[in-house]
Amino acid sequence: MAEIGIDNVAKTFGSKTALRGVNLTIADGEFFSLLGPSGCGKSTLLNIICGLEAPSSGRIFIGGKDVTDVPPKHRGIAMVFQDYALYPHMTVRGNLELPLKASKESRAHIDRKVQEVSTVLAINEMLDSYPRQLSGGQRQRVALGRALVRSPKVFLMDEPLSNLDARLRVQMRSELRLLKERLGATVIYVTHDQAEAMTLSDRLAVMSAGELQQAGTPIHLYSKPGNQFVASFLGDIGINMMDGIVEGGGSRALHIEDGGPSLMLDASFDNIVGSIPKDLPVSVGVRPEHVQLHHTSVPGGTEGTVVLCEQLGSEQHVHVRMGKYTVVARVAATADFRLQQTVFVTFAVGALCLFDKATTSALCAPAEAPH
Ligand SMILES: Nc1ncnc2c1ncn2[C@@H]1O[C@H](COP(=O)(O)OP(=O)(O)OP(=O)(O)O)[C@@H](O)[C@H]1O
Ligand SMILES: [Mg+2]
Repeated sequence: MAEIGIDNVAKTFGSKTALRGVNLTIADGEFFSLLGPSGCGKSTLLNIICGLEAPSSGRIFIGGKDVTDVPPKHRGIAMVFQDYALYPHMTVRGNLELPLKASKESRAHIDRKVQEVSTVLAINEMLDSYPRQLSGGQRQRVALGRALVRSPKVFLMDEPLSNLDARLRVQMRSELRLLKERLGATVIYVTHDQAEAMTLSDRLAVMSAGELQQAGTPIHLYSKPGNQFVASFLGDIGINMMDGIVEGGGSRALHIEDGGPSLMLDASFDNIVGSIPKDLPVSVGVRPEHVQLHHTSVPGGTEGTVVLCEQLGSEQHVHVRMGKYTVVARVAATADFRLQQTVFVTFAVGALCLFDKATTSALCAPAEAPH
């Protein structure tokens, strides 16, 4: 069992606070990502889990055992870093053998592991090459291989794909996921790339300024963000945010200000409208796929003007000026919208995200998705 428990972990460097009371449980065999902007404490948390840093307070558990004071090499963890410094004067084979030689494994064991790992990673053709003769993606695989030969229970990966170009990143991302399925290991993966975290993870945690914002499955965090930060951080095109007032006191009316529509929330918001103060100022989040554009007037539609069309081939992003706001709609590539055209905008009401404007928290604190 390689369940990982992070119990109220905090870390300060001098007067600087890097982590504030982080609590998380990562299940055995889970692919779990830590996602957040630069400086939010992702690497610090990873370093504390593997033992390269000591927490200022709090405990780390692996497989139910308190390992807070256990040195890194006895934690059964392998770390893959962003700068995958391979030894340039050693061949791929030499680089792969190194961790096994360091732990004084037998020759037969070393040969077997190198064979096994290089087959899994499809690098057996290049065992006698030097790192300089390899592409970035191949070097990254060797770096992964160096972690794999030790058959760890837990892999910690700190932005392992960030040195690769966009196409290779996407390819390696799929390979990593397949690899994890084959190994059945627990993986904690650090990234600031939301697409990477969404596509790779069983669950992820979004962090900001040393604090855990929300943890859950990718779809749960995407569709039920716990606060505005999570809502804005996830999604390949940003969520549309507008100001509004919810009538409350039993009324489901939502008035979006500054030229936005007034609309009726559906029954799924009943628990919210029943319990909030009357006329509560809210921020309204609408994902671009929940913005519908119509060529002619429709009931509840708000008039707007197309100000930008971005054709991606598979879909289009149409920007529509509507009062004070410019909302972005994700529509079919074949849809016919033109600059300066008048359109009518509606929202998929059941998919709206409502946040208390004062606290930025979601109005109905969503429960963490089961895992
Ligand atoms: N050894 C250190 N000494 C002082 N401050 C540190 C140290 N390590 C990290 N910090 C600070 O702690 C905060 C968190 O850093 P951390 O490296 O964990 O961020 P990160 O989320 O991994 O960022 P990035 O995406 O840029 O790698 C930052 O403000 C950083 O400056
Ligand atoms: Mg980092």
